[in-house]
Amino acid sequence: MCGIVGYAGHEQAAPFLLEGLEKLEYRGYDSAGIAVFSDKVRTVKSQGRLAVLREKVNAAGGVSGTLGIGHTRWATHGAPNDINSHPHSSMSRRITVVHNGIIENYIPLKEELQANGVVFRSETDTEVVAQLFDYLYDGDLVGTLIKVLHRIRGSYALGILCTDYPDTLLAVRKDSPMIIGLGEHENYIASDIPAVLDHTRKYYLLGDNEIALIKADSVELMDMDRKPVHHEVYTVDYDISAAEKGGYDYFMMKEIKEQPNALSTCIGSRVHDGEITLDKLRLSDERIKNIGRIHMVACGSAWHAAMVGKYVIEELTRIPVEVDLASEFRYRRPILSRNDLCITISQSGETADTLAALREAKANDVHVLSIVNAVGSSIARESDDVLYTMAGPEIAVATTKGYTTQLAVIYLIALKFAQIRQTIRPEVFQSLLADLQKLPEQLESIFADEDKIRQLAKDHQSTGTELVRNNVFIIGRGIDYGASLESSLKLKEISYVHSEAYAAGELKHGTISLIEPGTLVIAVATQDLLYEKLISNVKEVKARGAHVIAIVKEGCTDAETVADTVLYIPKTADLFTSTLTVVPMQLFAYYTAIELGCDVDKPRNLAKSVTVE
Ligand code: F6R
Repeated sequence: MCGIVGYAGHEQAAPFLLEGLEKLEYRGYDSAGIAVFSDKVRTVKSQGRLAVLREKVNAAGGVSGTLGIGHTRWATHGAPNDINSHPHSSMSRRITVVHNGIIENYIPLKEELQANGVVFRSETDTEVVAQLFDYLYDGDLVGTLIKVLHRIRGSYALGILCTDYPDTLLAVRKDSPMIIGLGEHENYIASDIPAVLDHTRKYYLLGDNEIALIKADSVELMDMDRKPVHHEVYTVDYDISAAEKGGYDYFMMKEIKEQPNALSTCIGSRVHDGEITLDKLRLSDERIKNIGRIHMVACGSAWHAAMVGKYVIEELTRIPVEVDLASEFRYRRPILSRNDLCITISQSGETADTLAALREAKANDVHVLSIVNAVGSSIARESDDVLYTMAGPEIAVATTKGYTTQLAVIYLIALKFAQIRQTIRPEVFQSLLADLQKLPEQLESIFADEDKIRQLAKDHQSTGTELVRNNVFIIGRGIDYGASLESSLKLKEISYVHSEAYAAGELKHGTISLIEPGTLVIAVATQDLLYEKLISNVKEVKARGAHVIAIVKEGCTDAETVADTVLYIPKTADLFTSTLTVVPMQLFAYYTAIELGCDVDKPRNLAKSVTVE
């Protein structure tokens, strides 16, 4: 949610800033801007995608200087227009700022500054930081920043330029991500690693309320008391190509296709000789045996993974599982006991609500085990235990490999806990483990249906009335209902086709009135115990004129007698089918979006990493 970059070096800053922002555009793309310092700060910014900013920079004949900051925006405060775009400068133009996050008390601060004659240009909360900094400025850069930090409330990653310090980039963060890239005679700041990967693989993770003074040849880190802080230098362990499109039109398709490999790494690295090793968990076997309740907390697709996880974990371990949206959990005063376990799930590891939910659990002495993709992210760092999904960088806004690897980690946890608690027989454990290990290859085999699915997406858009085309129902029971939630979100978020995921048995309690001739219903029916019931639900919607695509396990050919089209997934344990049923739906959503001319990787109004609540 907003991306920031900064450069201090001996080369021109603007090319790095623009390239870096391109890598961060997934974090927000309402507007973009850069500010570069030579004899004075020159700012170029613009509403719209980065391409518009590039044109503007070119039209201005470039922006010269070797110190600079840049920003790509997902609007929170103030409409996405040129004026509200970052960077923002103080009235005197001494201070220029880029910001990711939200300054919660910006209104009283703005009023106070206005009462003292400060004139604001934008509607943003960020401009308050620039103006306040300048207002409090006493020549001491760090001292003034500390004063500002004592006055502002909220979340922030800030990159700051001050015209009195022509060689220094000042940075600080709290509850918003920031890394400091370490180059050869140049250093960088960025919201995420891909922005600096073409230049360096070495970086620091800046902690909350730590301040960085960055120059071409030095990086000084300190805390709010100006005491030096020392951090380990991390090295990026994935290939640059992992953060590039590699010949695909969109990152989303690349990431869909990366799922077999991602799953294989995630599962393969933890399963050896018929045993599961869950990294080095602090959670002891004794504690696992005594868990009273599990709270799974997450947002969006990660919450959908938890919805599937509830079925799997309860079935295997017999531990009651509550699933919560993080934004609800954090404010509903959840009832938590010391022998509960909280599992938070997050691809980015930076989602503000999930982070707050984690803190709520910890404040209640509940052990937090997180399932995270981004290594070293805030959620990973603050958890008692973390299991990485090892999916590699996920750039497309709509998650794919992030979600399927989250499921894989949940399966591993469920199996391991069940083994420790002796709630499944050893032969069942071994048989499920064998099925789990087959998932990567089975997922790959679904790609053989890609052309068929592309055609289905095309047909769906080319037939029927506007109304029918724009209303899809995805129904399932049990785990298939959990998986339908994710399939439905994929369709909504990237193609803007409205879809509802429904527990199939619930349809006739009201929603079936929306089914009319031609309405597309996608029926997911992979659970042996519920298969016939689901087929009956398909008959009910068929009787009302629905067009039905069924997703079933290989061998369930009788589905062809009721559905208009049948897509088959390979046979696996019923507990693991969601990993496979979601794939045809990822492809269907992708090709529907292409058919409708949507920007698959950057759907409107969205951003990849939601660091505001
Ligand atoms: C949808 C999607 C979002 C995220 C949600 C949580 O495709 O990606 O719904 O799942 O914003 O994000 P993380 O997992 O980063 O906490």
